[in-house]
Amino acid sequence: MVTVRAPATSANLGSGFDVFGAALGRPADVVRIEKADRTTIEVTGVGSQYIPEDPEKNTVGAVAEALEAPAHIQIDKGVRPASGLGSSAASAAAAAVGLNDLYGRGLTREELVPIAAEGEAVVSGAAHADNVAPSIMGGFTIARPDGVTAVDASIPLVTCLPEIVVSTRDARGVVPDGARLEDVVEVVGNAATLAIGMARGDPELVGRGMDDSIVSPVRADLITGYESVRSAAFEAGATGVTISGAGPAVIAACRERDRRSIAATMLDAFDAVGVDARAYQTAIGRGAEIFE
Ligand code: HSE
Repeated sequence: MVTVRAPATSANLGSGFDVFGAALGRPADVVRIEKADRTTIEVTGVGSQYIPEDPEKNTVGAVAEALEAPAHIQIDKGVRPASGLGSSAASAAAAAVGLNDLYGRGLTREELVPIAAEGEAVVSGAAHADNVAPSIMGGFTIARPDGVTAVDASIPLVTCLPEIVVSTRDARGVVPDGARLEDVVEVVGNAATLAIGMARGDPELVGRGMDDSIVSPVRADLITGYESVRSAAFEAGATGVTISGAGPAVIAACRERDRRSIAATMLDAFDAVGVDARAYQTAIGRGAEIFE
């Protein structure tokens, strides 16, 4: 039997749609895995009532099948589903890392990323790897079709999760089919700035590189209060603010000294539009960890 803690993640970071991701210090899923003749799944924790236990419909079922590793898998959800914090990816990442270890498959962390991404396809309809990559590998990740580049980065963050549900399928449904060249040029510049900021551990550059004029503006309409929360976070000292993954969570990069007041300000701004929320004061963190 193995127990794996896999962290929540924030994908896109604004300018890196379906490419960038970051492991978050908290929250996390904890998954206990035991070898069995066939795969069975049990889910407890935050939002567990919305998560199917049928292996055909659960992200970890697809992972167990891909690794030919049947098991009894108990998922204790710390990451709320439909939050924009990589909930299904955290479970898929934990299952991939745990089953690989339990069955001695010998795959590297990078090799496990596409396997966990297949699990993502079960819930979102697309096998994007930008959440599973950081949940498995930790740090800041760049997921390309040919592999993943990961760097350790120490950037303070606030994620603010409103009591709104946005499904990844719906949020992907509003993404435009194409973009104007001017917008692509701007977003490429921002993405490059963000990546250099991560490599240097510089919250100013990371924040400056989060702006995105292609996907985030259309998704903002799905999140009540998004613009006022974003403005409030900037006023409190955030260096960059954007939608976390497909939303509705909002993520702010910042300096450590401003983190607490940014969290309080974002909560107040959601409250002002009648939306309950919770904030995580966190930072870029480690990938999935095995506890025997
Ligand atoms: N890159 C994905 C999206 C992350 O924004 O749709 C959510 O799963």
